[in-house]
Amino acid sequence: MHNDLAEVLISAARIEARVGELATRLAADYAGLPLSVVIISNGSLFFAADLLRALPLPLQLDTISASSYTGTRRRDTVDLHGGLRLSIANRHVLLLDDIYDSGMTLQTVSHALLLAKPASLRTCVLLRKQRSGTVGSRPDYVGFEIADTFVVGYGLDFRECYRNLPYIGVLHAHLYASAPSEGSS
Ligand code: IMP
Ligand code: MG
Repeated sequence: MHNDLAEVLISAARIEARVGELATRLAADYAGLPLSVVIISNGSLFFAADLLRALPLPLQLDTISASSYTGTRRRDTVDLHGGLRLSIANRHVLLLDDIYDSGMTLQTVSHALLLAKPASLRTCVLLRKQRSGTVGSRPDYVGFEIADTFVVGYGLDFRECYRNLPYIGVLHAHLYASAPSEGSS
């Protein structure tokens, strides 16, 4: 698996340090508030697991599933699968995702969550791609700004693989170009 990487973009140590900084900020911003964290699976599972264990606040956790990618190809619709299990009415909601690319996923999920009348809604992503043509508002909390390139690892997949890499990296170009198969997120 590691041999498939052309480049490690963000090491595990840098991720750990930055996740700690984000947790410190979130701990200050949400102190004393009824906090509900909604994570978009599967991409944000690893980010959420590390961030939330570094966050010394009482919180409720729920997940929502969204998919918008097939391989490295962007689609212009986002599918939501399953709703929330817990009520977020009058609670302060923090929505976590792995990466902000076109903004479609966060916009779609945010709209769905706002229907449930939370007290507030903010978004937090580990990565934000520096690109034009995004929709919706920018994420409130960002771990790292990266170039507009397709990355894998620490939750991010290519055709459902590489999520369990402990760092963020770029695959060898020939792997991205290989025969298409179904899969998304
Ligand atoms: P957006 O809706 O275009 O902002 O894309 C967000 C979703 O697309 C993320 O939740 C990821 O699942 C996926 N995605 C976007 N860029 C990448 C990437 O570079 N690698 C892997 N998944 C990505
Ligand atoms: Mg995803």
